[in-house]
Amino acid sequence: MDEVGKPDDTVSARVSKRAEAIRPFVVMDVVARAKELVASGHDVVRLEIGDPDLPTPALVMRAAEDAMEHGDTGYTQSAGLPSLREAISRHFAVAYEVRVDPADIVVTQGTSPAMLLVFGALLDPGDEVIVSDPCYPAYPNYVNFLGGVPVASRVRAEEGFRFRPEEVRAAITPRTRAIMINSPCNPTGTVLPADDLSELARIAEEHGLWIVSDEIYHGLDFSGRSRSILEFTDRAFVLNGFSKAYAMTGWRLGYLIAPRLFVRSCEKIQQNFFLCANHFVQAAGTVALAEAQSEVARMRRTYDERRRYLVPAVRGIGLSVVSEPTGAFYVFADATAWGSDSLELSRRILEEALVSLAPGVDFGPGGEGFLRISYATSLERLAEGVARLGAWASEHA
Ligand SMILES: Cc1ncc(COP(=O)(O)O)c(C=O)c1O
Repeated sequence: MDEVGKPDDTVSARVSKRAEAIRPFVVMDVVARAKELVASGHDVVRLEIGDPDLPTPALVMRAAEDAMEHGDTGYTQSAGLPSLREAISRHFAVAYEVRVDPADIVVTQGTSPAMLLVFGALLDPGDEVIVSDPCYPAYPNYVNFLGGVPVASRVRAEEGFRFRPEEVRAAITPRTRAIMINSPCNPTGTVLPADDLSELARIAEEHGLWIVSDEIYHGLDFSGRSRSILEFTDRAFVLNGFSKAYAMTGWRLGYLIAPRLFVRSCEKIQQNFFLCANHFVQAAGTVALAEAQSEVARMRRTYDERRRYLVPAVRGIGLSVVSEPTGAFYVFADATAWGSDSLELSRRILEEALVSLAPGVDFGPGGEGFLRISYATSLERLAEGVARLGAWASEHA
């Protein structure tokens, strides 16, 4: 308090160190600027964000409407509707031939909150999690937020963005609790081969670690069927959700499959912090899993067609795609021919060419020099974006 009894702002006007330590997700700033430009009348080609342009399958929408009409608007069990957890269990039996007990599943409001459950249940202060560099930026942020320490293991374009097992082993310390994996991967589009999953599972087992596998891009795998980490080990947490393969980003629905030891802790975090996922959204998710697989296959074909167009097209304008993406909906292109500072490059391209792209450095130091191009947008807009980029590069790069 100062002498007139007002609170001293130099003491009270501060945010917590924990919140300050969160690195901003720069792509969200790019989104904000792109929207500003659009609002002021500019035609921006939006290739920065992983939000499907394709609509949620009609039968899923109808299921949500029916559920609302039936009054499914209240709380559900915190761990999720039994019908949805059974549908997830059936999905694992059919898609991966893996038995998952519905009791080991916690339904969440998207894959993102599931990360809080996993790392909240796994980490004490100072515990370490091995993450790839580059990786989806929320992973290190969640780990840091919960007092843990993310430890980067570099993955390289010329090696298909795969982990080097010897480097993963070298990163293990007595404080290591988990190895985080994401296949198909954001930002690289890499699908880890079965041998790599098996090797990582073996490393986890040898060292008493856990694999945390973010499988949110499963279903969007162009090289064959997606493989779950649970086919290789049960020392694993699986995170998944409906945002990407079912085009349901705004519905906010995901789930976590946890080893039995951790289930109750994850449930307690869910009960206290989130209560439950939306009732009618869970009902729609149940229908999505059981009845929308042909829609998922149709969307996969659409993304694949775009991918086949985009990879040669961006090579044609001077970007280098060393490792061809085989999953998700991103091309992670080496843009060093245009400039080495990916943030500066993406800002200039947005202002001068009206194309918005995600700077590679957003995904870690190993992503510097790259630009992530999302093809969750139509072929026409992709072609327009490539034309503008090509014109910009011939003038400026
Ligand atoms: C790898 C990865 N995991 C998780 C998420 C977040 O997904 P959700 O919408 O289910 O929270 C994203 C979103 O882009 C992602 O790319």
